[in-house]
Amino acid sequence: MKLFCFATLLLSLALAYYVYTPMPETISEPWKLMILDAAIRSTMHVGAFLQTLGICHQVHVVRFVQQMQPMPSGDTKVQDLTFAGVQVRVYEGTGGEEGRLRRGMVFLHGGGWALASTKERSYDHLCRKMADELKAVIVSVEYRLAPEVHFPKQYDDCLEATKHFLTPEVLALYSVDPAHVGIAGDSAGGNLAAAVAQQISVDDTISVKLRVQALIYPVLQALDFNTPSYQQNHNIPILYRSSMVHFWLEYLDADRTLIHTMLINNHTAKDQKALSKHRAKFDWTALLSPEFQKNYKAVVPRKGSPKILKKVPALLDVRAAPLLAEEVVLQKTPQAYVLTCEHDVLRDDGLMYARRLEQAGVKVTSEHYADGFHGCLSFASDPIKFSVGERAVQNYISWLNDNL
Ligand SMILES: *[C@@H]1O[C@H](CO)[C@@H](O)[C@H](O)[C@H]1NC(C)=O
Repeated sequence: MKLFCFATLLLSLALAYYVYTPMPETISEPWKLMILDAAIRSTMHVGAFLQTLGICHQVHVVRFVQQMQPMPSGDTKVQDLTFAGVQVRVYEGTGGEEGRLRRGMVFLHGGGWALASTKERSYDHLCRKMADELKAVIVSVEYRLAPEVHFPKQYDDCLEATKHFLTPEVLALYSVDPAHVGIAGDSAGGNLAAAVAQQISVDDTISVKLRVQALIYPVLQALDFNTPSYQQNHNIPILYRSSMVHFWLEYLDADRTLIHTMLINNHTAKDQKALSKHRAKFDWTALLSPEFQKNYKAVVPRKGSPKILKKVPALLDVRAAPLLAEEVVLQKTPQAYVLTCEHDVLRDDGLMYARRLEQAGVKVTSEHYADGFHGCLSFASDPIKFSVGERAVQNYISWLNDNL
């Protein structure tokens, strides 16, 4: 009996240690987030273990767990189709006025270019909600993922599917008004949405243009992993700084061991001549307002690892890092909605892009959640619901309703 009590005590302590993560006081529902984070971490750990044993890739374990969640249902018409060779899930909201053209949206889900899918519970739920509340047609793109494919395949899939939807014939087929089509995405999907929006804006062969781009805590650059938000939130669930760098290396199919040197910005040290023409585009000391800079210091090593930018040229490719676009390109992009969360390593990616769009003359709505954390929009409905997630989804859809 004594032994049993002792073992129980030890096990509880180990569990508490595993679950407990210090949280900032201002974050939404810290205890719930701690438990959610522990669940995600344990999935990742089991995945890493199975990968070490050579049984499967870590990503496959995470995907398996994601698929176990119950699926929403409702009246929305949902069809799995192929647009220009790319799988898409099309949602058609009901209840629009008879004979009137509808609004259209392309939606690109997040997941570090490696996880999730259009069919995942939270994304499926969000797209149904968008379709119903906006009485719109939503095209959620099932772009291929890492580790099976790498950059630029994810981007290409999204671009091709979007171009297909934007053709006048296809829009007519769905009764969508060509003047009212937008694009949106969260996290890595926000990265893809920003990149696709840029390309559509400069491609003269595409006659129908996007009306809005809605970027939800987008990832936009891989040149500075020490922005104030990366420094401040490096250990905040559910996206740790090291996980974000890892997602980048996997997406760009770069040597995974570069993580250590890139975490300290060795790839963008002062001795990188190739970077001089880009620096101003991601210089947070100029692009962020002082309230976000706080007392953080820029991390620019004097000497670094000069070969990285040559070995991984995609780090400077605007299709991977939309923040590096020239102002003449940004000028042409549509009206923007940029959602950022205080407790998110990617906060400053979004804030810097919003600032650069504004400087280029684009109309921008910046919505910042002081209690938000990365991924919160995916936790806006049962069984895992956060107040900040619910608020953010509602405000995002209401912005689309007013501006799309
Ligand atoms: C960063 O670059 C410096 C200078 O080349 C090098 O001495 C150091 O080992 C690098 N750091 C890492 C973690 O690779």
